[in-house]
Amino acid sequence: MKEAKKALCITISLGAVLAGAAVTAVLLWKFMENKCSVSGIECGSSGTCISPSHWCDGVLHCPSGEDENRCVRLYGPNFILQVYSAQRKSWHPVCQDDWSDSYGRAACQDMGYRNSFYSSQGIVDDSGASSFMKLNTSAGNTDLYKKLYHSDICASKTVVSLRCIECGVAGKTMRQSRIVGGSSASPGDWPWQVSLHVQGTHVCGGSIITPEWIVTAAHCVEEPLNNPRYWTVFAGVLRQSFMFYGHGYRVGKVISHPSYDSKTKNNDIALMKLQTPLTFSDKVKPVCLPNPGMMLEPNQSCWISGWGATHEKGKTSDELNAVMVPLIEPWRCNSKYVYNSLVTPAMICAGYLRGGTDSCQGDSGGPLVTLKSRIWWLIGDTSWGSGCAKANRPGVYGNVTVFTDWIYRQMRANS
Ligand code: ARG
Repeated sequence: MKEAKKALCITISLGAVLAGAAVTAVLLWKFMENKCSVSGIECGSSGTCISPSHWCDGVLHCPSGEDENRCVRLYGPNFILQVYSAQRKSWHPVCQDDWSDSYGRAACQDMGYRNSFYSSQGIVDDSGASSFMKLNTSAGNTDLYKKLYHSDICASKTVVSLRCIECGVAGKTMRQSRIVGGSSASPGDWPWQVSLHVQGTHVCGGSIITPEWIVTAAHCVEEPLNNPRYWTVFAGVLRQSFMFYGHGYRVGKVISHPSYDSKTKNNDIALMKLQTPLTFSDKVKPVCLPNPGMMLEPNQSCWISGWGATHEKGKTSDELNAVMVPLIEPWRCNSKYVYNSLVTPAMICAGYLRGGTDSCQGDSGGPLVTLKSRIWWLIGDTSWGSGCAKANRPGVYGNVTVFTDWIYRQMRANS
């Protein structure tokens, strides 16, 4: 009798311990998964998460070193290819010497472009770099990054300028100078502009960056609209009355920025992946994602476009409108009389402090673009503002330059 009780007791306690362990494991797993999606990047598919600031910082954090592998980026308005040197903890341009398109294709793929490659050419380096990366062609290894070594000069005196997609080209029609205070657009003026519909109604704008990816605002896809089934994307159509229910592109994935804050609108950016890729034409083309080192002027002229209201509390416009707005420096936009410190580094202000010209309800998620080096760049996504076109209440946009890393990472992880 005593023995049976003892056995029962042991069985029960063993069961309890096992159940506890299982619960802990599940919680731990949930926590790790959470940690990765909120503030980190996963090392390959190992389940280990590291902070994005440790990615390409020269210190190995991942068990198999994925965080210091394949660190490439495009720098400045001339798309200079740079490779990160873990050893020197800095980015270096790549010499054109012995470079070929096939390496360019590989680098584009590593950046997150699935099968897209546009051009690779040698240009005179204007970044002022004093150290370069060179290809060791005799190295038998096929991995581009293992073939690179440091060099103080490039024999060709030129560095690699790499473009993964033909972007930022618009039609040649005259742009006039509605949105509030703007004018209607002509076909092909803003070929990257899309209209995002829910149940046959325009809800937000967006910008095409690849045949499959659309940039929009995170506040447009708040629950339950983070479900891709709700959305239909219309590209290359200027009038809302020409967009018909059932036509348009279906969305396969909606990815909202993990640090988006619905109260403050900080990190107001999201991506949509289409179920079927867009076919580019005169009216449907991508805009360029801004590279680091773009050197924008403090009052750089930018353009906003969308089907938003043409006056405060107005209804959605049938026609696509656009207007020029200058950037406003952060210190000015954050001053007491304007937004009194509500503007974070992940935001960018544009418009006129005198009022009269602005984006408005329904323009959200749509583009704020600028022309530099004869290319159109996506500088912002329409996010918020107090009223529309009021004095000292300019439009606030997501600062796309600070999100390019995140965007490429999502493209890479979901290609
Ligand atoms: N949040 C608005 C939307 O959902 C866009 C607001 C832009 N406001 C402004 N004053 N610029 O469409």
